[in-house]
Amino acid sequence: MRYAHIIGWGKYVPERVLTNADLEKMVNTSDEWIRTRTGIRERRIAANPEDTTATMAVRAARKALNMAGVQPGQLDLIIVATSSPEHIFPATACLVQNALGASKAGAFDLSAACSGFVYALAMAHAVIASGQAEYVLVIGSETLSRITDWKDRNTCVLFGDGAGALLLRASDQPGGILSTVLGSDGSGGDLLIVPAGGSRLPTSPETVAQGMHYIKMDGREVFRFATRVMAKATQEVVAKAGLKLQDVNLVIPHQANERIIHSSMSALKMTPEKVFINLDRYGNTSAASIPIALCEAIETGRVRPNDNLVFVGFGAGLTWAAAAVKWGVPPPAKPLSWWRRLQIALQGPWASLRSWMLRLGRRLYALIPGYAGESLYLPISRTRESPPAAPARSAPSEETQPGGEG
Ligand code: COA
Repeated sequence: MRYAHIIGWGKYVPERVLTNADLEKMVNTSDEWIRTRTGIRERRIAANPEDTTATMAVRAARKALNMAGVQPGQLDLIIVATSSPEHIFPATACLVQNALGASKAGAFDLSAACSGFVYALAMAHAVIASGQAEYVLVIGSETLSRITDWKDRNTCVLFGDGAGALLLRASDQPGGILSTVLGSDGSGGDLLIVPAGGSRLPTSPETVAQGMHYIKMDGREVFRFATRVMAKATQEVVAKAGLKLQDVNLVIPHQANERIIHSSMSALKMTPEKVFINLDRYGNTSAASIPIALCEAIETGRVRPNDNLVFVGFGAGLTWAAAAVKWGVPPPAKPLSWWRRLQIALQGPWASLRSWMLRLGRRLYALIPGYAGESLYLPISRTRESPPAAPARSAPSEETQPGGEG
């Protein structure tokens, strides 16, 4: 049996704090309304253009790697869960791979909105358990402030920016991730959506004028859905791990709304000391919320070796996900040696140099007389084939319409 243990963790949040009082000056809202309906007091916003989904992910990832004493070159896979990627493509995970200098890692983004981090953890567990990877870096990173309509009080009071990362290692010691549960219900796709900017509704002057590239949400429906699935997914994942609800030491829920958390956890008779909440200071950071909360739970002594933890989230899609984890690692006690500190300090510059050399190599290669691009990589017969005919255009089918009945 191979197990996936969490051996490193790290978080990064932007410096700029946006309080409820600040929001009162921007939209028709009040600190009292936001606090009583959501529990949020303030959130972090990536006001500095240097803070992007990838750069924040890299900062959180470096902390996780350094804590575990693992070099980026040892990573087999990097998964970035995000709904605010840097581009449609390339994947943000590839930008993170390059910035870390993770020379032998595969990298991909995972899109499951606020459930994304737990989905990514389930994928990391699967590749480790099946023997395909030794070290996997799982990151949740979001700059939702850049797709938020700052004139829409229904949504702009809820979200925040930040990143959290966990490093997983294969082990034959029982523990680590015990079970996972994933769920989806695409019939509710229209309840929480960024309508434009994808292939269905490409960005155009009209979509921008109508603010269709911003988050749109039916808050009440999402609320109803969330309270239902949080409790159900927690019950399922605990049973799947062979545990009882009483065996759970701490639940780290997706940090969307204090009322959703209290309502779903009280349905399970989970007392408040068994539930970790930090959304008052960060708001809903989507895929980053659970790893950021886990980091804070560890920092504040709420997580101890041998604790049974549950991570549970829900989000757009609609999606939900839960993971049960047997915590095994005490925080590192001894200070790092000077040699290790030097290695860590050189990691960033080395990754930049490596990236620069790879780019330069590609440019020089292209200057070689007779260089014919992909014909160097493809068999001659393939390069001589005529391109395939363009597929006939058809109207989008009902089945793929968000909220469609099909
Ligand atoms: N300030 C003041 N009033 C606001 C407001 C704000 N920031 N946002 C919305 N309102 C108004 C609405 O316009 C609505 O007014 P109306 O009744 O005149 O139409 C009213 O408040 C809605 O109030 P209420 O029904 O009491 O709100 P609620 O209890 O449903 O709370 C949410 C609203 C959005 C906080 C809640 O539905 C929620 O958290 N839903 C889940 C959202 C979520 O977690 N999304 C992310 C999923 S990952």
